[in-house]
Amino acid sequence: MEKIQEYIRNARVFINTLFEENDAFEIALISVGTVLLLFGIKSILFQEESLKTRLKNLAFCLARKIPALSMKIDFEKKKAARDFQESMIRLHEGRPYMTHLPKKGWSSKKIMQEIEINLKMGHYKWDEGFVSGCVYNFDKNLISLLTEVYGAASYTNPLHPDIFPGVCKMEAEVVRMCANLFHGGSESCGTMTSGGTESIMMACKAYRDYAVEERGIKRPEMVMPNTAHPAFDKAAAYFKMKIIHVPVDPETTRVDVKAMEKSITKNTCMLVGSVPNFPYGTIDPIEEIAALGRKYKVPVHVDSCLGGFLTAFMDEAKLPHPPFDFAVPGVTSISADTHKYGFAPKGSSVVLYSEKKYLHHQYSVFPDWPGGVYGSPTVNGSRAGGIIAACWATLMYFGLEGYVNAAKKILKTTKYITEGLRKMDEIFVFGEPGTSVIAIGSDDFHIYRLSEGLSKRGWNLNPLQFPCGIHLCVTLMHTAKGVADKFLQDVREEIAIVMKSPKDEVCGKMAIYGMAQSIPDRSVVGDFTRFFLDSMYITKEPEDKSYVNGQSKK
Ligand SMILES: *Cc1c(COP(=O)(O)O)cnc(C)c1O
Ligand SMILES: *[C@@H]1O[C@H](CO)[C@@H](O)[C@H](O)[C@H]1NC(C)=O
Repeated sequence: MEKIQEYIRNARVFINTLFEENDAFEIALISVGTVLLLFGIKSILFQEESLKTRLKNLAFCLARKIPALSMKIDFEKKKAARDFQESMIRLHEGRPYMTHLPKKGWSSKKIMQEIEINLKMGHYKWDEGFVSGCVYNFDKNLISLLTEVYGAASYTNPLHPDIFPGVCKMEAEVVRMCANLFHGGSESCGTMTSGGTESIMMACKAYRDYAVEERGIKRPEMVMPNTAHPAFDKAAAYFKMKIIHVPVDPETTRVDVKAMEKSITKNTCMLVGSVPNFPYGTIDPIEEIAALGRKYKVPVHVDSCLGGFLTAFMDEAKLPHPPFDFAVPGVTSISADTHKYGFAPKGSSVVLYSEKKYLHHQYSVFPDWPGGVYGSPTVNGSRAGGIIAACWATLMYFGLEGYVNAAKKILKTTKYITEGLRKMDEIFVFGEPGTSVIAIGSDDFHIYRLSEGLSKRGWNLNPLQFPCGIHLCVTLMHTAKGVADKFLQDVREEIAIVMKSPKDEVCGKMAIYGMAQSIPDRSVVGDFTRFFLDSMYITKEPEDKSYVNGQSKK
């Protein structure tokens, strides 16, 4: 105590001598000025985005103001917008667009004719296994069953459990069957959603509100591998959460757990791991992430949207895999897509929690609405009962045996293709494919050239960036006889062609992906992406004729 008093006395003498020359007004001005300056510095240094990112953005923003550069960028953007529009119109095969309601309703026959035409557009033979992921199964028996099921349930809505109790029962059963598949305990629970993105966003919302309301965290932050799905970034943007991207090990492409631990702060509201991640198909070390969750008392979400309905059957199929589900203490939620390897029609997924306390923060409740006390479990109010019935029907149609057999076939085919690819010296496989995704790269040539070549042979693969690669997501379509061998054969032949001039640049439609990776100003790539999204909604020929075929006519 006495020590402190002495310090204060000394400080007082020091400051008084320092300001001997100034009058009281000056001193007050200097004090206020200093405080404001310190706050200013603090707000510059400590912001959502790092100082480095902001300086970089500022530099690009200034660069875009240079007239010559801004004209060039403008030209490239208009050209890209045109190219996107033109290729979409080409995909629509010159069919006229409906832009207004038909005056009189169409006959069923005419409607079906037009639907058939629309469904036949596109030239990829997805039904013969030429496409990565996308369509996971094409079983005509199941489709005709589901058509009947959807038709019978198309008017139902689980928003009204008193009116459609059976639809709610089916949703509850889907959730329970899935929770049991993932070794959920007696407290495990969850909801169906309209897809993986909604499942993930709901988990993020639950953990944000859990952090704010139960743990007194003001600015919740999520920590996730940079390979995790953009649905988490979407949630962060929608729900105003901070998101920290943790790098992955360049060799294994699994998250660097040490870096993850360093990113944890007192504001961390959730940790994420993927089983597997979409880009490289590798599985994050869930046991280690869950251990961090336990150590720092932070909930852990396992994104098994893609792989959930494969890994869940690996025990039964006698295939080894690291533990990833509720059997791992610390895992508090899982998202798994029934509409991927669950083979249900698009529009369904589940989000599951180890305990009710998290689920309760997913719910939205508004007790004071004049329309009545309102509560809803997910994003939507009204929901499609037909989709729930169709998902339930699919689970019943396959049964445990059906799913185990499908998983066996898919995982066997993945292994076969992986081994085949590993024999080719000019390419490499990223890490250890955990389920059904095989990502490949090359040190000898630009891997997009392989993709471009394969595309000419009818194959549609997914391009990856940072690091650059392409991937094949193996589905039931690829397990048909001869498909895997045809793929390996085509890859081998294309590599031979590419290796004749390994240093050539990427051309064709992959060129834009290659170029996008090398543009340092990511906001330009963002704008390109917006133009692409615009082109999906095109219903007329582009008006701006000044950029025909990318050539300015001016
Ligand atoms: C597909 C996928 C999602 C998102 O699911 P959608 O159904 O497309 O919304 C999330 N995570 C991973 C790993 C995925 O592959
Ligand atoms: C429900 O919400 C999702 C978005 O999360 C949307 O895609 C879906 O079409 C919505 N509607 C119904 C009726 O489920």
